[in-house]
Amino acid sequence: MAIAPLKKMSVPITKPALTEEEAHAPYDSIKSGWVTQGPKVAEFEKAVAAYVGAKHGVATTSCTTGLHLALATIGIGPGDEVIVPSFTFIASANAILYTGATVVFCEVDPRTFNADPADIERRITKKTKALMPVDQIGLGCDIDAINDIAKRHGIDVVEDAAPTIGGTYKGRRVGSNAHQTVFSFHPRKVITTGEGGMITTDDDALADKARRLRAHAMSVSDLDRHKADRPILEEYHELGFNYRMTDIQASIGLVQIRRLDELLRIRVAKADRYTRELADLKKVRTPYTPPYATHTYQSYCLDFDRSVDRDDLMARLLRRGVATRRGVMASHLEKVYRDRVGKVSLPITEEKARSTMLIPLFATMTDDEQSYVIESLREELGAA
Ligand SMILES: Cc1ncc(COP(=O)(O)O)c(C=O)c1O
Repeated sequence: MAIAPLKKMSVPITKPALTEEEAHAPYDSIKSGWVTQGPKVAEFEKAVAAYVGAKHGVATTSCTTGLHLALATIGIGPGDEVIVPSFTFIASANAILYTGATVVFCEVDPRTFNADPADIERRITKKTKALMPVDQIGLGCDIDAINDIAKRHGIDVVEDAAPTIGGTYKGRRVGSNAHQTVFSFHPRKVITTGEGGMITTDDDALADKARRLRAHAMSVSDLDRHKADRPILEEYHELGFNYRMTDIQASIGLVQIRRLDELLRIRVAKADRYTRELADLKKVRTPYTPPYATHTYQSYCLDFDRSVDRDDLMARLLRRGVATRRGVMASHLEKVYRDRVGKVSLPITEEKARSTMLIPLFATMTDDEQSYVIESLREELGAA
C-alpha cells in the first residue's frame, strides 16, 4: 500500500543570514594580500567589544578554541577542577579537558536549562579553580549569582556564551558580566564568520596574554613584524596555540555585527509567533525567559511531556520536510565522558536531554514556512 506523500515544503533547521554585502566584504582583504589575522580582526574585536560593553575582544578560530584559550590564560591545568553543566554542546566540557583539568558536571535549572547556582556550589572542592556556566540556546545564565559564588570561593568564571551574542542580563549585554565571556560565530549562531569565536573581558593583562597565546605565544605579532623597519627576531617563552581568526572572516563579521540588532528583532518576532501559536498545546512547553534576561533565540526549543516520543516525532516531522534537532545533549552520557568522569547523578539533565527538541528558526524563514512548521507540529501531536 502506498504511503501518502506528506512533504509539501522543506524547512531547514537554520540558514545563516548572509547577503551580498557579506559576500563582497572580504574583497579588500583579498586584494591587499593580507588575509590572515590583521587590521580587520582588530576592527572586528573593537566592534564586538563595544557592542557588548567590554573593554577587550580577542578573536579566535571558534568558541571551542576561545574557551580553551580563556582557561589556559588563567592557568587552568592538570589537578584543577572546572565545573560546567553537562546539558550543553560537548565543546564546553572538551575545552576543559584540553587543559588537562578535571571536568565536574553540574545540574541545570529545569526551566531555563542553565546551570543551577546552588548545585554549582555543592560541587565546589579545594581543587575547583573555575566555573564555566553556559548561556544555553541563547538565554543568559544567572551570572550575578554565579559570580557571587566564585567570589566567595576565590575562583574564576569563564562564561560560555556561544549562542548568546546580543542577549541581555539585568539590562546588561552578555559579554560584559563575567571575567571572561566567549562567543561563537558558527553558522548556527545569530551572526557568523563561517567559523569563529571571541573572548570579551575588561581585564587588560588577561586580554594581552590571550592575544599572545593564540599566536603561539610569539613575543611580536605578525603584523608588527611586517610593519617594522628592521628585522625583529621573535621569542617564545611559553606554550601557545594557533587560534587566529583570519581577516577574511573578520570582514564578514564586521557586516554581521552591524546587522545584529535587526537580526535579533526578527528572531524574537518569529519566536513570539511560535509561543503564541503553540501555547494551547498541552504536551508542549515553550521556552521560558526569566525576567532578568532577553533571549537571542539562537534556536527555539520545545520541551515535551512524557507522553510524546520525541525521536519518533522528529522522524515524522522530517517526513513532512520539517528539520528538527534534539534539544541539548547530556555530555556526561557520551562515551568520552562516561570513561573519564564515571557515573554522575544528573536527573534533570538526563530528562531534558530526552524531552527537548529544536524547531526551525532563522531570520530569513518566511511566514509560510513558519505556518507549515506550526501546522505540521499540531497535526503530528494530534492537536489540529
Ligand atoms: C554552548 C556551546 N558552547 C560551545 C560551542 C562551540 O562553538 P564553536 O562551534 O564555535 O566551537 C557551541 C556550539 O554550538 C555551543 O552551543
